[in-house]
Amino acid sequence: MLAVPSSAQLRYLILSDIHSNLEALEKCLELAEGQYDEAVCLGDIVGYGPDPNAVIDRLRQVTRTVIRGNHDKACSGITEAEDFNPLARQATLWTRQTLTAEHLSFLRSLPPGPLTLDGFQIAHGSPVDEDQYIVGPETAIPALKSLTSQTAFFGHTHLQGGFMLTFKGGFRSIRCSGAEDGCVLAVTLEDGVRYLINPGSVGQPRDGDWRAAFAILDDTQRRVEYYRASYEVAQTQRKMYEAGLPEPLIIRLQLGR
Ligand SMILES: [Fe+2]
Repeated sequence: MLAVPSSAQLRYLILSDIHSNLEALEKCLELAEGQYDEAVCLGDIVGYGPDPNAVIDRLRQVTRTVIRGNHDKACSGITEAEDFNPLARQATLWTRQTLTAEHLSFLRSLPPGPLTLDGFQIAHGSPVDEDQYIVGPETAIPALKSLTSQTAFFGHTHLQGGFMLTFKGGFRSIRCSGAEDGCVLAVTLEDGVRYLINPGSVGQPRDGDWRAAFAILDDTQRRVEYYRASYEVAQTQRKMYEAGLPEPLIIRLQLGR
C-alpha cells in the first residue's frame, strides 16, 4: 500500500540544483512567495556558480529540509570529483576554496537521499541511488517500482519534467513547455499512478530553457505545478567572469544547456 500525502495538506516548494546561482534562487523565491508553506531542496546547492556562501545562507533561511547532491559532496571534500569533467572539476576546486569553514561543515552534514517526508520522497539522483541519472525508462521504471510513496521528487539531470507508471504498468514521460513566466504545467496526481517528478534546476537548467525552474506540490489539490522564472542571468555571468570560472560554464547559462 502506497502512502499518499494527506495528513498535513500543505503546499511544498521543491527546489533542486541551485548550483551557487543567487540571482536564480532569489527570482524563484520571489515568484513562489505566498504560494507555499514549506520548502525542500533536492541537493546540488553549490558547484558551477559564483555565490556558494550566499546561496547556502539564503537557502537555510527558507528550509532545513535539504539532502546532498554529488556537487555538494565534491565541493565539501566528501568525494574528490574524479568522475567530473575538467570544467566541473575546476569549478568544484574554486568552490571548495571559496566556501567558509561553517558552510563546508554544513555541506558535509547533509543527509543522502532518499528521504521520506510527509507522504512523499525526495532524492537527488534516484531513490535507488543518489548519484544515478534518471533520463528514460531504463532508469525511471526501476526507480518508480522502488517508491514507498506515490510520488518522489528528484533532480540531478537539470531537466524539468518527470515520469509516471500506472498500476497496469503503463509508462509515460512528463514534459513541460511554456513561454510565459509562472506555472508552465500542472499535473494532477491520480490514484493508482506513481510519479517521479523533476522540478528542474534553479541555477543551471539544461533543457533548452535558460530560465530558473522549480515546482510546487499541492497536497490539498493532489497536484504538482511546474514553474519557470526569468532572472538576471547577465549578472550571474558577470560574477562568474570576475571569479575566473571557466567560460563554457558561463555561456551555457544563457543557453540552458
Ligand atoms: Fe546538479
